[in-house]
Amino acid sequence: MNAPFNPGRTGHREPFSAFVCDETTAEALRPIAIELGWSPEKVNKGGLRNAVQTLSVSASPNVLFVDLSESGDPLNDINALAEVCEPGTVVIASGQVNDVRLYRDLIASGIQDYLLKPLNPDSLREAFANAQAILNAPKLADPGSDRPHCAVAVIGARGGVGASTVATSLAWLISEKQKRTTALLDLDVHFGTGALALDLEPGRGLTDAIENPSRIDGLFIERAMVKASDTLAVLSAEAPINSPVLTDGAAFYQLQEEIRGAFECTIVDLPRGMLVLHPHLITDIQIAVLVTEFTLAAARDAIRILSWFKSNAPQTQVIVLANKVHPQALLEISRKDFEGSIERKVDFVVPAEQKIAAQAAKLGKPFAEAGKNAKSLAPLVELAGRVTNITDSGERDDAPAKGSKGGKSDAKGGSSLLDKLKLSMPKKAAK
Ligand SMILES: Nc1ncnc2c1ncn2[C@@H]1O[C@H](COP(=O)(O)OP(=O)(O)O)[C@@H](O)[C@H]1O
Ligand SMILES: [Mg+2]
Repeated sequence: MNAPFNPGRTGHREPFSAFVCDETTAEALRPIAIELGWSPEKVNKGGLRNAVQTLSVSASPNVLFVDLSESGDPLNDINALAEVCEPGTVVIASGQVNDVRLYRDLIASGIQDYLLKPLNPDSLREAFANAQAILNAPKLADPGSDRPHCAVAVIGARGGVGASTVATSLAWLISEKQKRTTALLDLDVHFGTGALALDLEPGRGLTDAIENPSRIDGLFIERAMVKASDTLAVLSAEAPINSPVLTDGAAFYQLQEEIRGAFECTIVDLPRGMLVLHPHLITDIQIAVLVTEFTLAAARDAIRILSWFKSNAPQTQVIVLANKVHPQALLEISRKDFEGSIERKVDFVVPAEQKIAAQAAKLGKPFAEAGKNAKSLAPLVELAGRVTNITDSGERDDAPAKGSKGGKSDAKGGSSLLDKLKLSMPKKAAK
């Protein structure tokens, strides 16, 4: 529930209490409470009214069951409950009224679930299991922490360069090594690999959000995000590919907003096409990691994406990471030529590590985790450190050296993409 935080009352929290209106309901609840290791004595009589009275003078339990049967105005009474119930309590309500509007209103006012009476053991078990899943989900960002939220988008210059690999690795490194609560938002809604890479089912959360953006709020985030660990949660989808996803992008923006409130760090796996469709998604992103390969095609696309950022999101710092980098002799273009053509340096170079990539896929673990002992993946660890340094300090670390503004492209002569590429292409190809 959303009652204002009242530090004076946060004492010891019981795992569970219930306030029911009749003996039948109490009898349905007690055995399930026992199954879950809760005391059956916590099933009290008196319904919602007693719940409000009791909670106004004592700490709220983790899971609260309230019977609304005797309530004349359930919605109003639930709001009264919200006044006295501490944040973090998961509330399950129950009653005889079978009305979908009431159900929706109750959900909107912050309860977790509404069970129709008479209660059946399976739906009770399911509701309590969901409640426990929410309680175990990554905790909301510590309000005492004054670190600014860290928001990073990972974009592949081309498909297959390893953007999702870098996104999941970054999310894992920040959540695991830096112990920051991290959300991985996979916006490749049809073919996303965010959940797959972590060996999770994507769930319906992201699809629901797109279909119904008005439902997105803090509670929605808590329920829809799939937990990978105590500090890492994923929102990903495998939307059906027989119909297009219809959205104006509002849902994605709203999701980012809510995630920002609930996690310390957001990593967005952002397909490059999204930049074209929904440029506003970048507005609040401090850092974009542009993942590329040392190939001509990737150079061309990197140039275009970098230039997009310059004109559309000058506030966002772009970090360039070259991935799957083979030994020099096998490269289509060298690092030097690549840097020449994109007119900036490459910040990080991650070698091609076929074995680790295969291992990661087989184990359902992030690439960085599967290769956590491999020295060659140190650049990913450095990337994670650099990203949070930038957002913690609130200052980008790529400020241009004095007097070196712009100008570079003039030295190169031709200004068309092809000219730039030709200048840097291997001699044979450039003839
Ligand atoms: N550094 C690397 N070395 C070897 N294979 C890699 C590396 N990075 C990614 N891969 C592999 O490349 C493939 C494509 O990666 P993915 O992250 O899905 O790309 P994208 O999201 O850019 O389309 C995956 O099979 C992944 O395991
Ligand atoms: Mg991908």
